[in-house]
Amino acid sequence: MGNYRMQDVDLVGLTKEFGTPLYVYDAEKIVHQLRTLTMAFSASDVKIKYAAKALTNISILKLLRTYGSDVDVVSIEEVRLALKAGFRPSQIMFTPSGVDFSEIEEGVKLKVTVNLDNLSALEKFGRKYRDSYPTSIRLNPHIMAGGNYKISTGHSNSKFGISVYQLPEIHEIVRRHNIRINGLHVHTGSDITESEVFLKMAEILFGVARDFPDLRFLDFGSGFKVAYKEDDIVTNVYDLGLKLTKVFNEFCQSYGRKLELHFEPGKFIVSEAGVLLVKVNVVKATPSLTFACVNSGLNHLLRPMMYDAYHEIVNISNPGGPQKLYTVVGYICETDTFGSDRKLNEIREGDILAIKNAGAYGFSMASNYNSRLRPAEVLLLNGQAKLIREREQFEDLLRHQIEVDF
Ligand code: LLP
Repeated sequence: MGNYRMQDVDLVGLTKEFGTPLYVYDAEKIVHQLRTLTMAFSASDVKIKYAAKALTNISILKLLRTYGSDVDVVSIEEVRLALKAGFRPSQIMFTPSGVDFSEIEEGVKLKVTVNLDNLSALEKFGRKYRDSYPTSIRLNPHIMAGGNYKISTGHSNSKFGISVYQLPEIHEIVRRHNIRINGLHVHTGSDITESEVFLKMAEILFGVARDFPDLRFLDFGSGFKVAYKEDDIVTNVYDLGLKLTKVFNEFCQSYGRKLELHFEPGKFIVSEAGVLLVKVNVVKATPSLTFACVNSGLNHLLRPMMYDAYHEIVNISNPGGPQKLYTVVGYICETDTFGSDRKLNEIREGDILAIKNAGAYGFSMASNYNSRLRPAEVLLLNGQAKLIREREQFEDLLRHQIEVDF
């Protein structure tokens, strides 16, 4: 891979202006992904609810809102961020997992769409709101899918959703309190490549949906897989779009009413739009291999260590250099490998490496481990670099600490 540019902006130049490590996002790519998905499912009344957890920066939320996305949130704090970004409450799907009921009450107060994921919450909800406020239900369809076990959420041993085998209990609670169920939701995991998984979910959802007369939408969650390396298998969203909208529209006909088709993509929208730019501090040749030690680590991008995720790495400072084998590691005081045995253009100390697919679950999972500061974030918009988060300062580490005098 030669010169690595984004929107024709020289990324090495950006690191001179904003420093490293640096998250950079391409607004055009984000909007392109949103449009692709909207188009793929346009044969139905589709609503894209961007999964804010993937990348929660307020400017990213605003960008997506401006281009027609709704939003999916999982905590009351994300609800507030979404409201602050200008989303109307009706655009916000709130799917918390195992939270205190007060958080759900707060969601109702803020008038967002609430999605309940356990029978206890459904019972409390019914007692408190009866038919005065509709709710959606998150179902666990008992399907094993997703890139790896940690990100599989729809199988029988997963904590998420109410098991489809507990439908009799759901109906009993709904009847007793006269609850209005306006939506049904499933999300089986992340990095799902096969269209068949989504079609299987649809079959299950349609079977369940017939017995809920007040539905407004069916939400298929997300899990669309994007490419992390060349020739990676990805979800073919156009193929899925054709197949799923066909069965969805048929279902709507038999249900007797048009429903909205909801998705909550995170990775699909922002993964490929982001890079993490890091600087090589040390090139360390050992008798067995050569390490490139960079000024970042699992504190800034956890995915390689947490999920064994592959992120392509490019030496953008020396695109023409001869290729050599490197293991790229972070500066954290435990094993934090970004990539092993990578063939990269020769690395010199001071070179800038771009770690790709860092838009989703990069900054949003970053921490201050080892008392390191979190990076700045830059958004490229019409060829202009906009700083959308300042780099943390040493004072930020102490901001909420209370010193005791001894
Ligand atoms: N909807 C719900 C209810 C979710 O729990 C998630 C992700 C999404 C939508 C978005 O899924 P996506 O389109 O991003 O696959 N940190 C992990 C992924 C965790 C996903 C958690 N839930 C990773 O970096 O692979």
